[in-house]
Amino acid sequence: MAIASGSHIGIIGGGQLGRMLAMAAARIGYKTMILDPAEGSPAFEVADKHIVAKYDDPEALKQLAEACFVITYEFENVDVSAVEALESRLPCRPGSNALATSQDRLVEKTFFNDLGIETAPFKDISSRDDLVNALDEFGGKGILKTRRLGYDGKGQVRVNRDDKASIEEAVDLAENTSCILEGFVPFEREVSVIAARSPSGKIAIFDLAENIHKDGILFSSTIPAQATEATQNNARTIADKVLRSLEYVGILAIEFFLLEDGSLLVNEFAPRVHNSGHWTEAACTVSQFEQHIRAITDQPLGNPDRHSNCVMQNLLGDDVNQAPRILEMPQTMLHLYGKEEARDGRKMGHFTKISPIKAD
Ligand SMILES: Nc1ncnc2c1ncn2[C@@H]1O[C@H](COP(=O)(O)OP(=O)(O)O)[C@@H](O)[C@H]1O
Ligand SMILES: [Mg+2]
Repeated sequence: MAIASGSHIGIIGGGQLGRMLAMAAARIGYKTMILDPAEGSPAFEVADKHIVAKYDDPEALKQLAEACFVITYEFENVDVSAVEALESRLPCRPGSNALATSQDRLVEKTFFNDLGIETAPFKDISSRDDLVNALDEFGGKGILKTRRLGYDGKGQVRVNRDDKASIEEAVDLAENTSCILEGFVPFEREVSVIAARSPSGKIAIFDLAENIHKDGILFSSTIPAQATEATQNNARTIADKVLRSLEYVGILAIEFFLLEDGSLLVNEFAPRVHNSGHWTEAACTVSQFEQHIRAITDQPLGNPDRHSNCVMQNLLGDDVNQAPRILEMPQTMLHLYGKEEARDGRKMGHFTKISPIKAD
């Protein structure tokens, strides 16, 4: 049954994703309560209520559970046991199973392979021997990644068998933190899909976005992606399988490597709204943010078809100074996240520029 209009939705995390979720919720009649340890978090100024406390603070979580009818998150490193405790009291969407799967790259990649979905080859690494053997197996090139807590390319070392310094750096990381080595994928493009599932199992999937990363951080997304109909269908089939197998509720994002022959390898998934889905706000009637709110409140899902082509570009650090120029661009939406300090590489905002879909 749908959650009544005017009810509170609890959001763990008050960054830009929480902010855009809160704005979408307000527009369709829901109030939000945000939990974040940082005073002045971007989402606070657009939410009905907020709590400044650690994400796993028992008292804060109790407050959230008492005031809200459903809990969601804007990032995947929420404490799983805290969510499990909440789940016994009220719906947490997506559930702790999706969180737990996405938090550990070894568990995540094994989950995909068990579903028959291909990923880059990978190995659990804890010693120099593990690393050297896996590198040999993967043709001499790979990326060592911490199993947990990596984001925006952090917690990764690019390793090459012929580059001694890269091996030493990788051994150092692997001996101190649980890591995996992935074979280096010579991809042609990176693409991602944003998909939603409702509590009753309805599924809606947005079109594939083509993403460019710089220094491990998303720089731009272009829609449509340069991919054949067969590749697009393959991405949809994979998203569908993942949503069903996790009995997922809400928005899920999957990042892929697109190979020269048109096949896809899954890189990772995020159990939340995603930077590579920001384009939906400008190019679809119902954005990823509204779709997530619709899914978790058990309202009808919106149609995911796009009415326009779109390019989304992030404003990192000082890029935010381009805002006055962006406001003058035609067919362009600007989002600023309300962060005070424009540190290097920090996501300060983004813009989306739409253009007509050309007939073939
Ligand atoms: N196995 C790989 N082969 C080639 N490039 C990779 C591989 N893994 C990651 N990358 C590159 O690094 C970027 C960040 O890695 P990712 O695993 O997505 O970590 P994060 O959690 O930081 O987003 C990817 O978008 C891709 O450009
Ligand atoms: Mg990634």
